[in-house]
Amino acid sequence: MTGIELTDALKGFHRSFPTGVTIVSTSVDGSPFGLAVNAFCSVSLDPPMVMVCVKATSSTYDKLFSGDRLGVSILAHDQGQVVGVFSKPGIDKFAQVKWSAGETGAPLIDGASAQLEFRVTSRILAGTHAIFVGEVTHAGFSGTPPLIYVGEASSTGDS
Ligand SMILES: Cc1cc2nc3c(=O)[nH]c(=O)nc-3n(C[C@H](O)[C@H](O)[C@H](O)COP(=O)(O)O)c2cc1C
Repeated sequence: MTGIELTDALKGFHRSFPTGVTIVSTSVDGSPFGLAVNAFCSVSLDPPMVMVCVKATSSTYDKLFSGDRLGVSILAHDQGQVVGVFSKPGIDKFAQVKWSAGETGAPLIDGASAQLEFRVTSRILAGTHAIFVGEVTHAGFSGTPPLIYVGEASSTGDS
């Protein structure tokens, strides 16, 4: 298998894995920052740990290193427009949505399907990305069904 074949195969692999969409967020000097992330994963329930993976070229990347408290909002099925806002770089994203500060001060998206806050305990540099691992301090869910994201098939029609 050549490198190009592996890249195409990997894209197809990822398209085959439906996910939710989260907004990973933080507060820096009282100002909210965040981005759309589907690389969210539970690590363990006991201890309660989660992880998120963020690319270094994201304009939010440096903000996520400035403190140790991060928020994760799992978007609800009717919050597709929020994905559009939080997947564009360099804009005041939180000015365009309703949000509230969580218990730790992390900005959380109102109307989300579920929310949590965690304290970062490890930051692992992984090539073009960083993996933030941490201990969950607060969590809640609304019962509103989540938004489901499925990658689009490529223009060549393969899947
Ligand atoms: C559905 C979806 C999932 C995404 N998942 C991730 C992700 O897991 N990690 C990441 O770094 N970027 C992810 N992105 C891309 C960022 O949201 C996008 O690059 C955004 O512009 C980042 O904003 P910023 O540069 O202002 O931080 C995702 C985008 C979408 C639409």
